[in-house]
Amino acid sequence: MRGLFVTFEGGDGAGKTTQSSRLADWLTEQGRTVVFGREPGGTELGQAIRELLLHGDHVAPRAEALLYAADRAHNVATRVRPALERGDVVVQDRYLDSSVAYQGAGRVLDGQQVRDLSLWASEGLLPDLTVLLDLPADALTHRLAHRGGFDRLESEAADFHERVRAGYLALAAAEPERFLVLDATRAVDELAAEIRERVAALLAD
Ligand code: TYD
Repeated sequence: MRGLFVTFEGGDGAGKTTQSSRLADWLTEQGRTVVFGREPGGTELGQAIRELLLHGDHVAPRAEALLYAADRAHNVATRVRPALERGDVVVQDRYLDSSVAYQGAGRVLDGQQVRDLSLWASEGLLPDLTVLLDLPADALTHRLAHRGGFDRLESEAADFHERVRAGYLALAAAEPERFLVLDATRAVDELAAEIRERVAALLAD
């Protein structure tokens, strides 16, 4: 069996955790071995990097981009690639598109350079499928307010989130075959079914 790499992307609070665990449960029922990943912080080293990124003082934009890339490099080398080589399905919360959307569109670094940095870090690994849970900024603020507790990046102004959202939509438009863009305000069950359908088609290939 060939491995499959599925990533979930979207703004904070768009429902990535819910949908990625629903997909992982379904894949397990199908008899697949699922490796669940997240960035930043999917490895022990990544946990330390995550602390630096989310709870420290201001991090210069290029330093931020490099820290996310370092986390990614280690995660890909030690968890994602070995799993794919075993034939497992890797379901991951966030990957390189997060860097392009947040550090590129959000923090006004050059998106292509940020993408190239991540491709260098991952030795060119792209997901087979990227599910983009698209959430308008006003819905996002509402969801986060009800979840309590804001980390540094979550406290950024709404226009930052709008830039990130636009960045994601541009990425999806540029690679329509890799992306499945879904309106995150739709019912959880409906979204889960559509994601399963797409993954089932990839597994059948
Ligand atoms: P995450 O733990 O996924 O937070 P949430 O559950 O709120 O979505 O990600 C933490 C933050 O890191 C999130 O605000 C997005 C940001 N991020 C980047 O800016 N660049 C990246 O490359 C990644 C992976 C995440």
